[in-house]
Amino acid sequence: MTADLRIDTSMTRYLAEHPTLQYVFFGGKGGVGKTSMAGATALWLAGRGKRTLLASTNPVHSLSGLLGQDVSGGHTAINGAPNFWAYEIDTRETIERSKKEIREKIQWFLKFADITTKADDFVESATMNPAFEESAMFENMVEMMLKKEYDVYVFDTAPTANARRLLGMSKVYSLWVDKMLRSREEARTLREMLSFTKKKEKDPLLEYLLGFRQRMGQARQLLTDAGKTAFFFVTLPEALPIAVITRFIGWFHEFGIPVGGVIVNMLIDRKALGADVPEFVLNRMQMQDEHMETIREKFDGRVRAVVPLFDEEVRGTAMLGRAAASLFA
Ligand SMILES: Nc1ncnc2c1ncn2[C@@H]1O[C@H](COP(=O)(O)OP(=O)(O)OP(=O)(O)O)[C@@H](O)[C@H]1O
Ligand SMILES: [Mg+2]
Repeated sequence: MTADLRIDTSMTRYLAEHPTLQYVFFGGKGGVGKTSMAGATALWLAGRGKRTLLASTNPVHSLSGLLGQDVSGGHTAINGAPNFWAYEIDTRETIERSKKEIREKIQWFLKFADITTKADDFVESATMNPAFEESAMFENMVEMMLKKEYDVYVFDTAPTANARRLLGMSKVYSLWVDKMLRSREEARTLREMLSFTKKKEKDPLLEYLLGFRQRMGQARQLLTDAGKTAFFFVTLPEALPIAVITRFIGWFHEFGIPVGGVIVNMLIDRKALGADVPEFVLNRMQMQDEHMETIREKFDGRVRAVVPLFDEEVRGTAMLGRAAASLFA
């Protein structure tokens, strides 16, 4: 059934052709196997001698479950798998840290502008929205990317449109920071003109914005470099997951973010079935066949692997090894 699906460039070949790849992402609809494929890829890369960090930027974590090991405290070496570390970013801690930073900046600014209002009101309105959580996670991811402590980072991204928004945000951030910088510069000049002492004061807000813009610029450069970054989209041979990644791929092209290709997961393997296949299974297989046809039409030449539906869930390094063997067949 998969014979008519052409795989010109397999996952193995793609990685061989991109030897400097450093940031690997997995996206797709909820439940399609992003975490499993990210884990399998990280294990495979580590097995090839690359120091690999599997990191989750998803507020709903599953890496500890996947690996059977608590990886929420920090970068954790995975038992029995050399070169393999994993880390679930603590969303709450990230958010608290960002809130604290923002509070300090706002307090400084209010003092600077001689405004007597309490900073708390501003901090609340600046941080009480869902986008804040996302941007805090994005900053955390960028921080990891820029540290370059590993040869490869494999990111398990959030299931919805978040991934795209995160990346779109780096552009918006940059524009926003530019605007802020201009008004900060103006405020500073004005203050210096009005002040008697003429002495130059350090402006922490301005410094923060400059540093922030620089980090975002670097991140955007890395994220749009096909030599360093690749996004892989996981789908099932089903209508909705296909529709989701079709949309994602379109967006990513718009943003100039390199798409590594498509991974089809959970295809029922005919060879693994006995002679008496129940009608229920036959029907599902026929449904999958039809969607495989759509996948062939839509993603011709961009499918990197077809991973079968296993008889058990993908949990633990042994099972990850099995998934990796078929992902990198
Ligand atoms: N090829 C497969 N065969 C059998 N089970 C699989 C396969 N791939 C993934 N699974 C199982 O399917 C479930 C969903 O997989 P996974 O958690 O990797 O998906 P996800 O896309 O990360 O989900 P979420 O959107 O919730 O993060 C898990 O229980 C996993 O073990
Ligand atoms: Mg997941």
